[in-house]
Amino acid sequence: MPEKFYITTPIYYPSDKLHIGHTYCTVATDAIARYKRLQGYDVMFLTGTDEHGQKIEDKAKEAGVTPKEFVDNIVEGSRGVKDLWKLMNISNDRFIRTTDDYHVSAVQKIFRAMYEKGDIYKGSYKGKYCKPCESFWTESQLVDGKCPDCGREVVDAEEEAYFFRASKYADRVRDLLVNTDFLEPRSRVNEMVNNFIDCEGGLQDLCVSRTSFTWGVPVDFDPGHVVYVWLDALFNYMTALGYQNDKYGDVEKFWPADVHFVGKEIVRFHAIYWPAFLMSMDLPLPKKVYGHGWLLLDGGKMSKSKGNVVDPYILAEKFGVDALRFFLLRTFPFGSDGNFSNEALIQTINVDLANDLGNLVSRTTAMVEKYFGGTLPLEQAGDEAMDGELLAMASSLRDRYEEQMEAYQFQNALEAVFKVIQRANKYIDENAPWALAKDMEQNGSRLGRVLYNLLETTRICGVLLTPFMPESMERLFAQVGAGKAAQTWDSAAVWGVLPENVTVTKGDNLFPRIDTEKAIAELEEAAEVARKAALPDIEIEPQTEEKVDFETFCKSDFRAVKVKACEAVKKSDKLLRFTLDDGTGVDRQILSGIHKWYEPQDLVGKTLIAIVNLPPRKMMGLESCGMLISATHTEKGEEQLHLLMVDDAIPAGAKLC
Ligand code: ME8
Repeated sequence: MPEKFYITTPIYYPSDKLHIGHTYCTVATDAIARYKRLQGYDVMFLTGTDEHGQKIEDKAKEAGVTPKEFVDNIVEGSRGVKDLWKLMNISNDRFIRTTDDYHVSAVQKIFRAMYEKGDIYKGSYKGKYCKPCESFWTESQLVDGKCPDCGREVVDAEEEAYFFRASKYADRVRDLLVNTDFLEPRSRVNEMVNNFIDCEGGLQDLCVSRTSFTWGVPVDFDPGHVVYVWLDALFNYMTALGYQNDKYGDVEKFWPADVHFVGKEIVRFHAIYWPAFLMSMDLPLPKKVYGHGWLLLDGGKMSKSKGNVVDPYILAEKFGVDALRFFLLRTFPFGSDGNFSNEALIQTINVDLANDLGNLVSRTTAMVEKYFGGTLPLEQAGDEAMDGELLAMASSLRDRYEEQMEAYQFQNALEAVFKVIQRANKYIDENAPWALAKDMEQNGSRLGRVLYNLLETTRICGVLLTPFMPESMERLFAQVGAGKAAQTWDSAAVWGVLPENVTVTKGDNLFPRIDTEKAIAELEEAAEVARKAALPDIEIEPQTEEKVDFETFCKSDFRAVKVKACEAVKKSDKLLRFTLDDGTGVDRQILSGIHKWYEPQDLVGKTLIAIVNLPPRKMMGLESCGMLISATHTEKGEEQLHLLMVDDAIPAGAKLC
């Protein structure tokens, strides 16, 4: 029986389309799932969506659809969550949606069991509530009066609610965090213990039901209450195996999970409440929670509301799925934050993939074709002095790689592989095959060996890169002539698996070089189009709350004015100079910054509205006596303006009241 390995991603909130930050964690999980399968493990890889809660209910209302219709669109719809994982070649074995019936009824059973055990009790909650995070906070937990998780405004809230007796499990959770390797990186342990367990008042009981909205799992014995979204969501890791339901039957086989990958801001839920919930249900605990860092953009966390998200679709379509997967795991240390940039992405593709790996494959296969017609000769001549270092590095690579992969240090595992690839490129220069080829009779067998060593090194690296770039490595194996037996985990630790008379098939360049300037310009343009598309169609400035008394209002003198002449003010992009008939018999001059919307000649003869008793103002050295009235709004982020034009039958000077 192969050993089992159960790995999960967080289940994503389908409140908006997913961005590159979500893709990062899923790609990392996929790389480990593929790596474990390569090693021969029976892997269960779970991902899914966390679909309940107030945020979703509010968003659906805004969109004018039911919550279920709203989440269906983001999860199953075109370019939704499932489409994205398909595009990114994610090999999840299961996908859970927390609105799935089997999950909902399982959560109801779990809630009831905890209640019957006395671990859930009814009380009343008074505190501060952060709507986007769906979290209650006490006054002392707030940071500058705002939500400590997301920094947004909180509101006063009081409601009857059920509470989970987290305090009862505080010592056991503390012990788990401090005395075991449950939470990694270890640097996150202190923060958890100090802030939530060893803090004043100790670990607080957790509010686990809500009455202020309905989009959630109903508490079946108390209508009006829905289960707190985190209790509902965390149990996905078990219901998706069949816990408390008949849909699946894999709890015995796969629980406890080997590792939950989660972002650092949700470590608290996974490292404190999740084990406490499981302790309450007398269930085994997962072996590990790994809290990874964030991908930052311009130093800040990406978020839809800040408008600084990076769309994985655009990048994958432009640079290829494998290049994007590789970049995410090659560039950022998994446990820490990293700054995303298009420049870094293109540089990684050009340096590592196009120059180092792509060139190694294309140069080697081209030389095998050119000098040997595609098939190496059986007679080959090794040279210990020239070959020793490369062979030693390549044959021992798997061990170094494995050590890093076991610690989820993708960046280091890939660094080890690329050191060997770089060494192989140097080996080409040292052995100068083109010089050997000048005298095939004398040097043909040595040349055969040099090229064999290069193919074999490439094969080993290809096996170890498969979890990161599965599709490209298939193409690499086809080019270097590596059959199935030469693609296995075992074969990656053995030198000499390719037959000596191996046949190569020269193919397209695996990773074409990217023209940085052109690609950056195109990406910026695409981002601008996407930014505009995400903006609301029409935005209207909210009405002023502050009242103005009638007497003050009556002091404003609005008049109909006729445009006698209009011209652009020299050296100004914006200003138009109006000569107006205001009924007094003396021309009135008004300057107005509306050139963006109107050409002067189009306004001559029109009847407009002006306020005429504003004090005169100088603009660009010209006096403006009053102001023309216009209506403004914003359309797709662009300010729009319409001068108020009235019936030409209204005589110049007529007063508005
Ligand atoms: O937290 N960089 O869902 P979610 C790296 N539903 N990771 C990022 C990121 C970024 N810029 N932005 C988001 C939830 N993530 C819950 C999980 S699990 C029982 C319930 C990561 O869609 C984030 O850290 O808000 C989290 O781990 C994951 O995406 C899902 O975030």
